[in-house]
Formats: sequence, structure tokens, C-alpha cells
Amino acid sequence: MDSSYSTGGWMILSLILALATVSPQAEARAFFVFGDSLVDSGNNDFLVTTARADSPPYGIDYPTHRPTGRFSNGLNIPDIISESMGAEPTLPYLSPLLTGERLLVGANFASAGIGILNDTGIQFLNIIRIWKQLEYFQQYQTRVSGLLGPAQTQQLVNQALVLITLGGNDFVNNYYLVPFSARSRQFSLPDYVRYVISEYRKVLMRLYELGGRRVLVTGTGPMGCVPAELAMRSRAGECAVELQRAAALFNPQLVQMINGLNSQIGANIFIPVNTMPMHMDFISDPQAYGFVTSKIACCGQGPYNGVGLCTLFSNLCPNRDIYAFWDPFHPSERANRFVVRQILTGTSKYMPLMNLSTILTLDSKT
Ligand SMILES: *[C@@H]1O[C@H](CO)[C@@H](O)[C@H](O)[C@H]1NC(C)=O
Ligand SMILES: *[C@@H]1O[C@H](CO)[C@@H](O)[C@H](O)[C@H]1NC(C)=O
Repeated sequence: MDSSYSTGGWMILSLILALATVSPQAEARAFFVFGDSLVDSGNNDFLVTTARADSPPYGIDYPTHRPTGRFSNGLNIPDIISESMGAEPTLPYLSPLLTGERLLVGANFASAGIGILNDTGIQFLNIIRIWKQLEYFQQYQTRVSGLLGPAQTQQLVNQALVLITLGGNDFVNNYYLVPFSARSRQFSLPDYVRYVISEYRKVLMRLYELGGRRVLVTGTGPMGCVPAELAMRSRAGECAVELQRAAALFNPQLVQMINGLNSQIGANIFIPVNTMPMHMDFISDPQAYGFVTSKIACCGQGPYNGVGLCTLFSNLCPNRDIYAFWDPFHPSERANRFVVRQILTGTSKYMPLMNLSTILTLDSKT
């Protein structure tokens, strides 16, 4: 037997094994995230803006116990989705660490403060509006092409999971930002919702043109029930009526628009996520979910800890796991886990078209 021949065989085998172990990410499905502060994993830390979560106690329960730019005490919704797919969290697109193999995990383009409309969030100065996020997605694909070539890049993008979370700020930080806002003088609420939905349709169509083929699209949560709105608009702790009305108009029209897009394209590209009941479950019965309250934020000040920002000088609850809201606008990590559980395995009340488990099973067969 020729021993040098078998040594050569072993060398090839160990080379294959080595390649397989250095690039496990290349096996997993890529994940791309677009949207606002509910899904921003730190892009705004690289921008000149007031919408940032870059100082303690943000990140207090993150593995590093340091602020990361996430608007959470710990993980946010995209992190928990990555976790459930067995993947690393996607890095912010603006992070200098997002290079080489890490690009294949995906990227997070989200930026706190933005909305569907270009004029939403102007008070935050320099933020990455949705059309700029989509431009970055195109730039990302050019960068990955340099590593994998265009055909494999397109495959990576087509097979990826995408999450887009937009719309809340078009109400909270635009239409209802101040009394007699420019948009509220221009549009009645129902007309405004129709306009925002028609603009959102263009965004989703562009995402499809850029290669997105499995896109989770979240509706708005109960905007009127967040501690900030309770502090500003509520007398006895009841959810603010106008913002709840906005969500009640927006969400069904979003699902309708998505159904229209899917049938125009002829495939289930866009997957609606009915965030409203996902949140209302623990907001209406916090104790059933192990929360002591769904009205008072863990970190903040004033009524409901809902006034101003969460900073080192704020009230801070000792156990973040028993609060549904971390800060005046954003759920705690534990609340985010309840939301992601429904995205993964929820019935049609939560996931009207199909849940993420079903998507993962379907896509693993093709
Ligand atoms: C929003 O901005 C994008 C990019 O700058 C532009 O293409 C789009 O037309 C704008 N939308 C509206 C409604 O002005
Ligand atoms: C997901 O959706 C399917 C289809 O609606 C449903 O049968 C299933 O119970 C849901 N949950 C899981 C874990 O798949």
C-alpha cells in the first residue's frame, strides 16, 4: 500500500474538516434586519443623534452587562430570533467588526427613531431612514460579492430570513408628536394611515427587488399602552385612545397590503406578524406572565417611570424580569421572549399567514 497516497487522503480530509469548522456561519441561514429602535442593535451609536442607547443602565442584563445600543436591558427581538435559529446575533451594519466571514451571518440595518415616512424622526437629526437602510443593503451585497461572487451572494440573500419593524414612529414621533403636527393638519387619521401604508408598500416592493424572499413584517404594538404614553395622555392608567385607534386602523390595512403584494408576486414573500395581541396578552394580564406590572417602566422617572429617558439618574428596578417594559417605550428582554415565542410557534391569531417554525420547515425542504 502506498503510504504517501493515504497520507495525502488524510490531508485532504483534515483540510475539509478544518474548513467546515472555521466557517460554521456559512452553513446557517443569513438574517437581515430593517427598522426602528425595537430592532436597532447599535447602528445609532455610530451616528450623531439623540436617539441612542449607549449609556448605562442599557445593556445591564446583556452578556457583557454593558450598553450595546440596543433599546433593552438585554437582548432584543432580532437577537432572540437569531438565538432560536442557532445563529450569532447580526451585527449593526455600521459596526467596524462587520467584515469577512461575519458578513455571511447577515446584518442589522435598523436605526432608532425612523419610520416609513422620510419626515418621521427629523427631531433626532442624523438617523438612517428606511430608504438609506435599503441602499446599505445593496452596498452590503456588493461587499459580499467580493467574497463569494455574485451568484452565491444572490443565493445567500434569497435564502435569508428578513425582519422589518416600522410604523410606530410614524404615529408616536410624527403625527402625534405635538398637538397640531404638520401631518395631523394635512391628514385625518384614516387618510394618514392609508398614506403611510401606501408608502410602506413601496418599501416592501424595493426589499423584494433587492432579493428578500422571506420577510417578517411586524405591525405596530399597542402604542397607547407604553409607559411614555400613559404618562403623557392617560388619566387613570388606561391606554391612550388615539394611539390605540391608530394601531387598530394601521394593522389590518398592513395585512391587507401584504396579502395584495404576495398575490401580485405569486408567492408568500411577506409574512405578517400580528404584534398587537402578542403584546396585549401580557399588558392585559401581566401576572399571568410573571410580571408585577405592565404600566410602569423598569427604568425612567415621573408617572409610570414614563417621562424622559432612561439614564444613570433614573429609577431602576432591581429585577428586570418582572417588568414588561424596560424603558418608557421598549419591552424588557423577557417580554421580547414572549413576543418571539409567538412569532415562532403562534397560531393564526398571532401569525395570520404562517408562523416562523412553519417557514423554517418549509424552507429546509426546498
Ligand atoms: C423618501 O426618500 C427617498 C430617498 O431619498 C426618495 O426616493 C423617496 O421618493 C422619498 N419619499 C417621499 C414620499 O418623498
Ligand atoms: C405554527 O403554525 C402551524 C400552522 O398554522 C400550527 O399548526 C402550529 O401549531 C404552529 N406552531 C408550531 C410549533 O408549528
